[in-house]
Amino acid sequence: MIKPLAQPGRTPLYLELAREIQELVEQGTLRPGHRLPSVRRMALQRDVSISTVIQAYTVLENRGVLEARPQSGFYVCPRLADGVPVPRMAKPMAKPSYVGVNDLTAEILTFSTDPSYLPFGAACPDPSLFPNQKLARLLGSVCRNDPALLGRYAMNWAYDPLAREIARRYLQCGAPLAHDELVITVGCTEAINLCLRAITKPGDTVAVETPTYFGFLETLQSLNLRALEVPTDPITGLCLDATRDALAHNDVKALILMPNFSNPLGACMPDEKKAKLCQLLAEYDVPAIEDDIYGDLHFGERRPKPLKAWDTDGRVLLCGSFGKTLAPAMRVGWCAPGRYLERVRRLKFTNTLGTPVILQKAVSDFLRNGGYDHHLRSIRRAYHGQLHLFTQAILRHFPAGTRLSRPEGGFILWVELPPGVDTLKLHRAALTHHINTAPGALFSVKDRYRNCLRMNCGLPWSDTIEAALRTLGQFAAQQLR
Ligand SMILES: Cc1ncc(COP(=O)(O)O)c(C=O)c1O
Repeated sequence: MIKPLAQPGRTPLYLELAREIQELVEQGTLRPGHRLPSVRRMALQRDVSISTVIQAYTVLENRGVLEARPQSGFYVCPRLADGVPVPRMAKPMAKPSYVGVNDLTAEILTFSTDPSYLPFGAACPDPSLFPNQKLARLLGSVCRNDPALLGRYAMNWAYDPLAREIARRYLQCGAPLAHDELVITVGCTEAINLCLRAITKPGDTVAVETPTYFGFLETLQSLNLRALEVPTDPITGLCLDATRDALAHNDVKALILMPNFSNPLGACMPDEKKAKLCQLLAEYDVPAIEDDIYGDLHFGERRPKPLKAWDTDGRVLLCGSFGKTLAPAMRVGWCAPGRYLERVRRLKFTNTLGTPVILQKAVSDFLRNGGYDHHLRSIRRAYHGQLHLFTQAILRHFPAGTRLSRPEGGFILWVELPPGVDTLKLHRAALTHHINTAPGALFSVKDRYRNCLRMNCGLPWSDTIEAALRTLGQFAAQQLR
């Protein structure tokens, strides 16, 4: 039985109620599938208004704790992959390695843009999840109001109002940044590229998480850098003992990582671990390039702080973009490169001169007046729900023994199939059914993750998706026979 509402203090009543219900779920008093009292009944029981209960239930729905069933009420959600083992952590790498050419990456990217293929292989949400109409109107009015923008070079490091808006948002989540520390880039891809070039020279070693985003590996290859893969926990991110070992025994010039909802594991480093990592980096005098592109896509109440929040001497180069939250095609990203600001600015100049101001202005107008927070809440809810449905379907259709990641943000799942499944072969078979996948081999420079897949869950659920997951599961089962 739910006890009367505690003294709310300064916390709004609905949040207090949400917290208490969540606690009961976490303690197991309210179990998955349990029906919550109706809104009216709960309001009477707790002596609060109906709107307080509706707000509390909605907050819990957004967090994925409750689900609303039409004409039936609110129920406790099954937890994502409850009881299912998470993927195993990889072993450390003996020595750094150059990245080989991977034609598969290019192939997967090509199929990702072909609408006749189901894009399980790309880390791209469905375009219908973005506020395209609103942005189109904003873009139009930016051009109409100041057509001369088209005739001028963008020579600045940042369109000031956009940089202020990005800095303000980081301040809100506990990472104070000055707006003039930021360089606006062409997506997060350019930000990472500039930061790597500011810190390293060809032949240097860069430590990376494993498995890691294949885009990083491609960039390391293009800059003739060596990768040293560091084992990464699927829940809490980079393993600190293994990082210490890697830094102690190799001449590592940079670490590149995604502390918040990494690609592909979806891991999120707890705060204490971020603090310890910063100490470790200082001890070995190594800079870190932090890719925070998924940070705004948290399912929990609070946005996790970036590693940068613990950076005391400018050694963390924070990168991000609006590619996963707002408009991948606008290619607006940023970096706050700390003590490497001047170098990154010069590289930006030689790389692309500047980022189109029209695009920066439209994004900035959206952030200021377009309801970005409201939009973020809605995509977070969508991603969370989709991850849940993908998880359940994978568990239904994939062979027994399949392990699954449990991201608390973002829209990517890492699937480890039983040993014996070859996801490269699975990929080829799936293509014949117009399903594009991302085999595990892409996410390492070594021959690892042969039985793994990264799954894009940024796609609204449909019968086609269910059928495609069933097909993948059948192909995998055939390989095991
Ligand atoms: C971790 C990570 N960083 C960067 C990118 C690319 O970002 P952008 O589109 O902003 O260049 C991606 C895209 O998949 C990604 O997953």
